Amino acid sequence: MPHKVTLIPGDGIGPEVAVAAMRVIDATGVDIAWERVELTADIIAAHREELPAHVVESIRRTRVGLKGPVTTPVAGGYTSVNVALRKRLDLFANVRPVRQLPGLKTRYSDVVIDMVIFRENTEDLYAGLEHEVVADVVTSLKVITRTASTRIARHAFEYARKMKRRRVTAVHKANIMKLGDGLFLRCAREVARGFPEIEYKELIVDNTAMQMVMRPEQFDLLLMPNLYGDIISDLAAGLVGGLGIVPGANVGDEYAVFEAVHGSAPDIAGKGIANPTAIMMSGAMMLDHLGEIDAAARLRNAVERVYQEGHHLTGDVGGTASTAEFTDAVVQNLASGG
Ligand code: NAI
Repeated sequence: MPHKVTLIPGDGIGPEVAVAAMRVIDATGVDIAWERVELTADIIAAHREELPAHVVESIRRTRVGLKGPVTTPVAGGYTSVNVALRKRLDLFANVRPVRQLPGLKTRYSDVVIDMVIFRENTEDLYAGLEHEVVADVVTSLKVITRTASTRIARHAFEYARKMKRRRVTAVHKANIMKLGDGLFLRCAREVARGFPEIEYKELIVDNTAMQMVMRPEQFDLLLMPNLYGDIISDLAAGLVGGLGIVPGANVGDEYAVFEAVHGSAPDIAGKGIANPTAIMMSGAMMLDHLGEIDAAARLRNAVERVYQEGHHLTGDVGGTASTAEFTDAVVQNLASGG
């Protein structure tokens, strides 16, 4: 029986990188029945709803999605389709492993960066509760609940135990948001007590940003509310080579959607030069989730070998290759044993 997977190419560079990811996943030999679902800013505008029903129905059927980015207009218009998808399918955990690729030279090549960011995915300032109190005065509500904070903390600690990670650092601004971030921390502490073998620490978000730039090698697993997770994970991506290479997973109890951290990159869309590494590595996380551990490892090795050799890299990481050329190189590595 093939694994059923919903493929959402998205828009901008989305279709270019998603098709590349599908090619390399198919090249691992894992039998996947792809259910392709179109979702673009234009389709959303035409449907006049942030998340057309056919997308949710497909993922409810297959339970697993691989997704390219979808453009969200800044200010005004409909709310983010990505936020809507995460809320509708209750994909409460956003998991972003950040580590260096072999051979890829960055400012941090002389230290080992290997961290995983766990970002709460359903609430905080992303609740979308904004209103204009009187003319020119707007409030945006930050929502933090015990339920959501506890389950992301539990998910993070369970992952740490399973993957033999040593330390969980909860990131917060509870010195200012004493109630909201205070509750997030209380929940994290309560969960931490059930995992005595894992060290638990807390760090204020602004200090986290500085520490990450100065000594990124100190971080292991980071646990944080939605907004800090959004910002810190882009910062972390910048340490290891940029948005083109960092993968991500949105996971709930029933469904999982795998996608890169980056957006639709309108500045390079349609040029065939986008780096598909991030979504390919998200695809490897998806293969792990499907129980195809061996294929996931072979895919990672095949991508890493392209970096190690350094001949077929895309422009964002210092090469001159097109998306297709990079993808061909990964497929060839898979064919020759990963
Ligand atoms: P972005 O991630 O699309 O681009 C930021 C910069 O990184 C650009 O210079 C871009 O060319 C570069 N970049 C990103 N991915 C790349 C790749 N794979 N290869 C090479 N270079 C890459 O962020 P931006 O410009 O803030 O957002 C553009 C649109 O994407 C917005 O409408 C935003 O809302 C949406 N977005 C969607 C996401 C999703 O669907 N999950 C996530 C983040 C943003």
